[in-house]
Amino acid sequence: MSEFARLPRHVAIIMDGNGRWAKQHKIKIALGHRQGVEALRSIIRESSDLGIEALSLYAFSTENWKRDPQEVDALMGLLLEFFSSEIDELDEKNVCIRILGDKAGLPEKQRQAVVSAEERTKGNTGLHLNIALNYGGRAELVLAARTLAERVRKGEMTPDEITEETLAQALYTKGLPDVDLLIRTSGEMRLSNFLLYQCAYAEFEFPTVLWPDFTLDHYHRALREFAGRDRRFGGRNE
Ligand code: FPP
Repeated sequence: MSEFARLPRHVAIIMDGNGRWAKQHKIKIALGHRQGVEALRSIIRESSDLGIEALSLYAFSTENWKRDPQEVDALMGLLLEFFSSEIDELDEKNVCIRILGDKAGLPEKQRQAVVSAEERTKGNTGLHLNIALNYGGRAELVLAARTLAERVRKGEMTPDEITEETLAQALYTKGLPDVDLLIRTSGEMRLSNFLLYQCAYAEFEFPTVLWPDFTLDHYHRALREFAGRDRRFGGRNE
């Protein structure tokens, strides 16, 4: 039985602070990201064990290409490592992997690795693990608008049928519930173009801990905090 009175169905995490963590430890940024992957392994496992429906992780934004090429290479390398080392366990745990973002813009090896992970786990019915890669929330909305416009042009739907629901079904997160809880580590309090539409009624948690130091204890604290929140969705709870 879960120790939490109420669990979020969908948790989103902005894993911030790897660079500062590396600086604090006087090591290369790449090693900060590597430590960040360690933190995310245990959070994924715990989310699956708790029975959370969806976990969305912001791994690489469309703006992250602006970083030093060495750092970008390190992140792309970690991505490949992650998929080759974790895929068996994730599949065994019935985790369904989905990439949020423009996969076509990824380097070929990374694109193939993520497509094959999606393909291999698409029938799994456990945790939906969404990894945002080459992702931008505004770009996602533009893409959805284009998809719907195209369907109207082809006569498959009318403009009146463009609703909150049909728009949601044209997003990368199609079929998944809205984000209930968004966690951003390192004390920064911004959404940074992450899941703009899906976070409309999300609860926010901003722990000051840097991502590589984020433990199960911090995760549980955020989940307990969420369970105590009074969610009104614009209405009133008497
Ligand atoms: C933010 O820290 C973190 C990122 C831009 C990348 C997050 C990626 C990982 C944790 C690893 C790769 C993911 C997978 C799925 C293998 P920052 O570098 O912006 O930190 P700073 O603000 O302290 O500089």
